[in-house]
Amino acid sequence: MNSLGLLEMLALAFVIALPGLKALSLQPGAGGGSTLSACPSGNGQVVRLVSKTSTEYTVFFSGCPFYSPYNQTTPNTPAFQNKTVTFRITPVLSSTVTYVGIYASGTTSNSQKIMSTIGYTVTGIAMFSDADATGSDAYVNEGHTFDGCRGHAEMNGLYHFHTEPGSGCVYNETAGTHSPLLGIMYDSIPIYGALGDNGVPPTNLDECGGHTDTTYPFYHYHTTYNLKSPYLVKCLRGCIFNANGNPSIQQYNLVKTDATCVKAATQYDYSSFVNPLLSSSPVTTSSPPPPPSSAAACRWHAWLAAVLLVVCTLATQGFRTA
Ligand SMILES: *[C@@H]1O[C@H](CO)[C@@H](O)[C@H](O)[C@H]1NC(C)=O
Ligand SMILES: *[C@@H]1O[C@H](CO)[C@@H](O)[C@H](O)[C@H]1NC(C)=O
Ligand SMILES: *[C@@H]1O[C@H](CO)[C@@H](O)[C@H](O)[C@H]1NC(C)=O
Ligand SMILES: [Zn+2]
Ligand SMILES: [Zn+2]
Repeated sequence: MNSLGLLEMLALAFVIALPGLKALSLQPGAGGGSTLSACPSGNGQVVRLVSKTSTEYTVFFSGCPFYSPYNQTTPNTPAFQNKTVTFRITPVLSSTVTYVGIYASGTTSNSQKIMSTIGYTVTGIAMFSDADATGSDAYVNEGHTFDGCRGHAEMNGLYHFHTEPGSGCVYNETAGTHSPLLGIMYDSIPIYGALGDNGVPPTNLDECGGHTDTTYPFYHYHTTYNLKSPYLVKCLRGCIFNANGNPSIQQYNLVKTDATCVKAATQYDYSSFVNPLLSSSPVTTSSPPPPPSSAAACRWHAWLAAVLLVVCTLATQGFRTA
């Protein structure tokens, strides 16, 4: 403390208080009422395996990307989501599919639109269906608000993709090879980029946008080639065992149990599927992630630290001159 003068201490106090001030000015805009902290303009990514049983695993995602999400042009501020999501280790294919986004209309199996999050990228970013908040094609209507990674934030600050992300935003393609893993959908089935075996767009995708191929002999989805509708998937072919907080999945009783999931005749062996979410570290098996800390509390702690520093500084100066 001796080496720090009064001015330095005051400057330090101000720097400590600064994050609190920043949190104050960066509260999510439209949608209001949210107390979630804004994503940083640097790396905000957290992906952490929380727990794992013989059948399922739970992962914690911060919901913020590893790059700045501030190029998107909606009025909303990208914010931490601190989301905990549970998937099956081995997906179970269902006898019926669940249509998502704008494709649910006019179908017999589920006629309601499935909006909001239908999967997560391996980097912990939400994947939405093709529908925007009004139930129209989000890429067509809101594509102008996407950043260079094709992400944008909804009214609660949830940063998400509706399509294959931009190059390098989750993965980079390697010429001549199958696309890398993009993420896991809510039916626990993996989704890859647009390219199949030998780096060629697949020609045998089913209605949902899935297939098996030589590279990956278990059923998996692909994003569409050249950003064609439905961009991610048109339907989910596996049983959904956990709505993971998506109200439209919850509301329409689409969540199954082992007893109510009607299995398809063909099931797949996923033992060769390498799932990076199962090895995300550090691995904890007991303690859940901390609850979102309120921005207001952070602000007060910052101010308290600043005030204490000033008091400490003045006291030290006082002793010296006395
Ligand atoms: C954001 O904008 C900067 C400057 O135009 C650009 O270099 C960067 O790639 C953009 N990033 C994203 C994710 O859009
Ligand atoms: C993609 O490649 C670029 C350039 O080599 C690299 O800087 C970036 O880290 C890569 N991104 C990912 C997600 O691997
Ligand atoms: C959870 O969210 C808060 C903001 O709401 C953030 O400050 C905190 O770092 C997040 N926790 C983790 C582990 O990412
Ligand atoms: Zn959107
Ligand atoms: Zn494939």
